[in-house]
Amino acid sequence: MTETDLILTLRQQLHEHNHNYYVLNSPTVSDKEFDDMMRQLQELEASHPEMYDPNSPSQRVGSDLNEDFVSVKHLRPMLSLSNTYNLSEVRDFYERVADSLHGQPFQICAELKYDGLSISLHYEHGRLVRAVTRGDGEQGDDVTANVRTIRTIPLVIDAPCPRQFEIRGEILLPWSNFNKLNAEREAAGEAPFANPRNAASGTLKSKDPKVVARRGLDAYLYYLLSEAPKYDGHYQNLQTAREWGFQVSPDMRLCNTIDEVWDYIQYWDTERKHLPVATDGIVLKVNSLAQQQSLGLTAKSPRWAIAYKFQAEQATTTLREITYQVGRTGVITPVANMDPVALSGTMVHRATLHNADVMESLALHIGDSVVIEKGGEIIPKIVDNEGGPGEHRIHFIKRCPVCGTKLVREPDEAGYYCPNDQHCPPQILGKLEHFVSRKAMNINSIGSEIINQYFNQGLLHDVSDFYHIDFDEKIKRSITESLSVPFERVLFALGIRFVGEIAAKTLARKFKNIDALSTATIDEMLETDGIGQVIASSVRDYLHDKENQQLIARLKEAGLQFALSHQQMSQHSTTLQGQVIVISGVFKHHSREQYKQLIEQHGGKNSGSISGKTSFLLAGENIGPSKLEKAQKLGIRIISEDEFLAEIRQTDQ
Ligand code: IVH
Repeated sequence: MTETDLILTLRQQLHEHNHNYYVLNSPTVSDKEFDDMMRQLQELEASHPEMYDPNSPSQRVGSDLNEDFVSVKHLRPMLSLSNTYNLSEVRDFYERVADSLHGQPFQICAELKYDGLSISLHYEHGRLVRAVTRGDGEQGDDVTANVRTIRTIPLVIDAPCPRQFEIRGEILLPWSNFNKLNAEREAAGEAPFANPRNAASGTLKSKDPKVVARRGLDAYLYYLLSEAPKYDGHYQNLQTAREWGFQVSPDMRLCNTIDEVWDYIQYWDTERKHLPVATDGIVLKVNSLAQQQSLGLTAKSPRWAIAYKFQAEQATTTLREITYQVGRTGVITPVANMDPVALSGTMVHRATLHNADVMESLALHIGDSVVIEKGGEIIPKIVDNEGGPGEHRIHFIKRCPVCGTKLVREPDEAGYYCPNDQHCPPQILGKLEHFVSRKAMNINSIGSEIINQYFNQGLLHDVSDFYHIDFDEKIKRSITESLSVPFERVLFALGIRFVGEIAAKTLARKFKNIDALSTATIDEMLETDGIGQVIASSVRDYLHDKENQQLIARLKEAGLQFALSHQQMSQHSTTLQGQVIVISGVFKHHSREQYKQLIEQHGGKNSGSISGKTSFLLAGENIGPSKLEKAQKLGIRIISEDEFLAEIRQTDQ
């Protein structure tokens, strides 16, 4: 049997075993046999990236996305926008654009910034074929079945349109439907949604399209990506998309001066209250696609667009008490408890005070009148203290509210933390929860309830216990699956202070295994891009601690990955995972050989000829007409050298 056939056979068998296990509740193989097959499949898939299939049983292991939906890689990453908050920042953007365009005239398309969740819709031959959420910007969830229920999204286009195009926009739950939904939920004793965005997101992730249909989602489209757009103007192309049947905002406006831009912003700052859907700002885009192209992108956002965020709504209420939360790394967060007050459509009675410095700067007393604000976030914050009758100023606590340990503060830090990291109960619980979380070990059969239960029974002391407790079979299986989670995520899962996902990835890639990292000096760590003194000392302290060393030894023994896999060693990223790429033409920045190498280093596969399997054609100058024609005929995406480099650069940071 060839390796390719073996992959297919293993997939089929594993699907069947999964079904026997999860649906029929009658497994026919032992867990060990199952795990061995899974590991074999993963190894084979790693050496055959062309066999990538989002539906492979291996994809259930360690996915960062919602397990209930198939995850799909975006053809072009879904970027975000940088934010501005006042005229002078908007002017900076305007002037930056003017400078970069060397005095060419340009227009800005000003539009409403809809506050829902972004969606990418794909059409082929005039039919909706796929709808994908933003996800992490690189890949999102396929939510096509749910999106089909949204009546303002055309399923079939009854007008001449390109054979293949993508259109992006925002899915929203209009205020009227949001209010109705929350009233129903409250009547049924369910927690209401905090805002229409959360409601829309919860709805779109529902497993039952009928529920989605009933709730009445809506969509506005604001970004057309097509190989051969009809016009050079973004605005004009969207008017065409409206003719194809899409709901495009009627409130877009082309501006020729910064004054026109600012008038538009001022107008909508108040008028938006009368709109049927939530908005949280204005988006400004350079209208000409050619100019957009010449302005280019940064790693996170385009240089040709920016968001202006409206001032958040405020309300005033009375402070009643301050309580303190202890996070998983021991950080103490002060929380203000206040008389309930209505703010942006919800009742608010708690607000975060962030840390000791923020709290002290507000000079609070019980009974003070405080101004609270809700920005884009769900958690409101206190932004001002108008004073009150209270005489006793409240100061930040000196000892941990749970374990009583004296709090400490690192130099240059705004907050205090409880240093009793191995024995302070909320820290232990926080670490256990962090360990199983999606972006860490992704043991999704264990939630906070199970953790609390085993912790309270004295059976769960630290994360290594997960691998020894006699849980039920379903949980055991997902724990076993976690053994294949790569080193960088294991490192993140340990919950070392200041070591977030990115730092963990950076350190894992630099030092390659835990032993090298443990013996690395602070200076060696500092040589790594993105690793500063704070992270380096924290990692050193953690790895030099006896109890942590013992914990790591127990986890190693349980079989967790404490070194990069062979595949990771030779690969920079998985940006092009599963993509088959054809190179043609002459290039400016690198040689063809170098491009081939780059493709492989990012998980892609090179191919010499164009076929239905080709993901895209990387086209240089003087590309042969027959290749070009074939690609166009098959509707295959053609991307330039610069576009290609921008795409892989996203992940090289
Ligand atoms: S354009 C590359 N236009 O705001 C530009 N975005 O941080 C892509 N949004 O994720 C976005 N209204 O979900 C654009 N009229 C509009 C928008 C809009 C809302 C959201 C979108 C995006 C976020 C940007």
